[in-house]
Amino acid sequence: MDRFIIEGNRDLAGTISVSGAKNAILPAMAACLLAPGKSVLRNVPNLIDLKTMAHLLRFLGAHVDFNSGELSIAAATITSNEAPYELVSKMRASIYVLGPLLARQGEALVSFPGGCAIGTRPVDLHLKAMEALGARISVEHGYIHAIAEKLIGADIHFEKSSVGATINALMAAVLASGTTRIINAAREPEVDTTIELLNKMGARISGLGTTSLTIEGVEKLVPAAMDMIPDRIEAGTFLVAGALSTQPVTVENYVPGHLDSLLEKLRAAGCELDIRDTGITVNPPQKIKPVDVLTLPYPGFPTDLQAQFTVLMTLADGVSFIEDTIFPDRFMYVAELNRLQADIRMERNVARVRGVASLSGAEVMASDLRASAALVLAGIVAQGQTTISRIYHIDRGYDHIEEKLNRLGARIKRETA
Ligand code: EPZ
Repeated sequence: MDRFIIEGNRDLAGTISVSGAKNAILPAMAACLLAPGKSVLRNVPNLIDLKTMAHLLRFLGAHVDFNSGELSIAAATITSNEAPYELVSKMRASIYVLGPLLARQGEALVSFPGGCAIGTRPVDLHLKAMEALGARISVEHGYIHAIAEKLIGADIHFEKSSVGATINALMAAVLASGTTRIINAAREPEVDTTIELLNKMGARISGLGTTSLTIEGVEKLVPAAMDMIPDRIEAGTFLVAGALSTQPVTVENYVPGHLDSLLEKLRAAGCELDIRDTGITVNPPQKIKPVDVLTLPYPGFPTDLQAQFTVLMTLADGVSFIEDTIFPDRFMYVAELNRLQADIRMERNVARVRGVASLSGAEVMASDLRASAALVLAGIVAQGQTTISRIYHIDRGYDHIEEKLNRLGARIKRETA
């Protein structure tokens, strides 16, 4: 298993560019199943999770090719309706094939996703949405079995904002007969990208960017080609890296507006930001000010940046409180940061972070994707050497993060065991 060896106490400076957004590309790939013919997604990075999705689509009968950032998916025929345990257990986002299979094939058999390192993650809202559209759902031998000869448009009222359930509901409703309304839809940028792609494929979805979506069902969809948006979480990770530095860091290829909640917190921490259309320069503060964070659905502070921001707070001049309302148990990395001599105490589900003068390198273990990113940031600024094991987590969602950060002055070595 690969690990990172990081020589700490590095000062980052310069310009770094952001890759395409994993969490927009995963549903886009699943959406391509809806149209017979070849769709093309551009600005696609080299990530393990995308390879897992490609593997799943091939298992279902699609032809998938990846070439220099371009992913082509040809789904002339679907030869299987099953998303097997081996693939779903590797990646929960495999649940995204539920809606498209049901809509195109009238049946889906998808392994029930288990728990994961960021806490319990139910799929009840996905299933309720399919049921609202007329599917019959049963859970058999660890599999979700959904059947519907023809989906029928309906009102879907989500009691909780869910990115995944909103996207699955959209992908099912586009081929349903009649009108579907999704109330309390998630409005993360990744949902918008899915809507834009589906509309390019001939779907009729209105309400983009709002919590109320209306879908007029159509008979069939056609293939489309589309550029994928830059990854706001990767951008946010690099902005925090800049805030931890003493010199300016510029993050390029970012969509204005996608990260306002983080930018507000960075300013409150004392950073000066120079915001342009294509990039942001972070001028780090002399002293980092403590800032409290509460994660919320978009446009609130993203749970996927919670761990990285906590690293910034470990070096703040005072105490801050971090709470995750989306995944309340997403704090497994805290014990690892404390091994680096951070001072974080969990008080129920709230992290109480008392800033320290410096972190101290140690051996640590990554528990999930964003936790790994947080440990990398901590390792760069810690005194001495930090070794991070289980970094396969980071390769799921960051395309060669060590090469990008090394270009800014970090010293991260990948060691393949
Ligand atoms: C997406 O997960 C992202 N994954 C996650 O990114 C991200 O953390 C999350 O959205 C929140 O922004 C992908 O896009 C592939 P949700 P998703 O459904 O869709 C509850 C990363 O690091 N819920 O919006 O699974 C759920 O437990 C990952 O890149 C139900 O109760 O998240 C949570 O509290 C990790 N029932 C809340 O809703 C359901 O059926 C929001 O989750 C579904 C969700």
